Amino acid sequence: HTYVIIMAGGVGTRFWPFSRTSYPKQFHDVLGTGRTLLQQTADRFDGICPSENIFIVTSSLYKNLCQQQLPQLSDDQVLCEPIARNTAPCIAYACYKIAQRDPEANIVVAPADHIILKQDDFQRTIRTALAATQDQDILVTLGIQPSRPDTGYGYIQYIPAANTEQAPLRVKTFTEKPHLELARQFLESGEFVWNAGIFVWNVQAIIRAFEAYLPEVAEIFEEGRSAYYTDHEAAFVDKAYSLTKSVSIDNGVMEKADNVYVVLSDFGWSDLGTWKSLYEVSDKNDDLNVIDGHIMLYDTKNCIIKTPKDRLVVVNGLDGFIVAEYDNVLMICRKEEEQKVKAFVADAKERG
Ligand code: GDD
Ligand code: MG
Repeated sequence: HTYVIIMAGGVGTRFWPFSRTSYPKQFHDVLGTGRTLLQQTADRFDGICPSENIFIVTSSLYKNLCQQQLPQLSDDQVLCEPIARNTAPCIAYACYKIAQRDPEANIVVAPADHIILKQDDFQRTIRTALAATQDQDILVTLGIQPSRPDTGYGYIQYIPAANTEQAPLRVKTFTEKPHLELARQFLESGEFVWNAGIFVWNVQAIIRAFEAYLPEVAEIFEEGRSAYYTDHEAAFVDKAYSLTKSVSIDNGVMEKADNVYVVLSDFGWSDLGTWKSLYEVSDKNDDLNVIDGHIMLYDTKNCIIKTPKDRLVVVNGLDGFIVAEYDNVLMICRKEEEQKVKAFVADAKERG
C-alpha cells in the first residue's frame, strides 16, 4: 500500500535565469551527475515502492518532459494541472485519486527539486515514517537541523523525547517562512528544525485534514471520485483547478493541524531553491568560488558563476556575487540579496 507523489509543477523562480518557466530546474541535471533532479527523486524510492505506485503532479506544459525523463511511468501516473495552484491542490488531487483506487494507501509526498546525499539514511527515515503512519491518524514531516536563519523554509518546534531513536516526535508549532527576526529567534532557541518539505501520511489522515482545514479544496477534489481514471478526468480537473484557491500545504494544513509529527532527519538534505543553496553544496576553488563555464577569474572570491561553455567570461574584482547566464538572460546579483530574484523575474516578464 505504499505510494509516492512527486510534486514537480513549480517554476523555480528563485533560481532564475537557470530555471525558466519553459524548463524549470527539476528537469535540469543541476549537479552534473547525469540524472536530473526529477530522475534522482524517483530513483530515491527504489525499493520503497514499485514504480507503478509513483505519481508525478505537474503542469500540463511539462507532461512530455516528465515522460521523457521517466519513461517507466505510464500515462496515468503523470497527473497534469491546467494551472498552478500551489501545493495543497496538487496534493489533494493526487491523494483523492489514489484513495479512489486504494483506501489504505500510505503515501510519501516529495518535492522534485531537492538533493539528498545519503540515500541509505533517507530510506531508513522514510521507512520509519511509513511504519508510523500505517495505522495512525498523523501527519508526518521530516525535520532537518537548521544552520542559518533562512526565511525560505518552514520551522518546526517539536516536543523533545528521551528516546528519539528516530521515532516521530510530536510537533508543537509549525511556522511557514517566518520573517528574518523570527527565524533568528527560532534558530537561537535550538528548539526548531526546518521542514524538509517531504510528508508522510496515510490517505485517510490527509483527507481528514483537508476536510478540517481546507474544506473547500476537499469538496472540489472529493467530487472527482466519479471522474478519476475515466475519460472525464481531464475535464473534471480543468473545472476543479478553475475553482480552487491557491494555497500551500504548509500554510493550508501543516500550520493548522494538531496531529503533526516530525522525524528528525540527517540525510545530506538540501533544497536547491536558490543560488546560495547551490553555492553551498557545490565544490569550491581556493577563493571559495563555484564556477561552471568557460571562465577567467581575477581577484574574485565567494562567487557562484554559471555561464554557457561556448562563451568566454572574464570576471575581475567581484566578492560574493551570483553571475548567471542562461538562454537569453544574464543576471548579476549580490549573493546576499538573492531574495530579489523573484522581483527581477516579475519585472522581466512585464517587459516581455
Ligand atoms: N504540481 C505542482 N503544482 N507542484 C508544485 C506547485 C504546483 O502548483 N507549486 C510548487 N510545486 C512543487 C515544486 O516544484 C517543489 O518541488 C515543491 O512543490 C515545493 O514547492 P516550493 O515552491 O519549492 O516550496 P518552498 O521551497 O517554497 O517551501 C516548501 O519546501 C521547503 C523545503 O524545501 C515548504 O514545504 C517549506 O516548509 C519547506 O521548508
Ligand atoms: Mg522549494
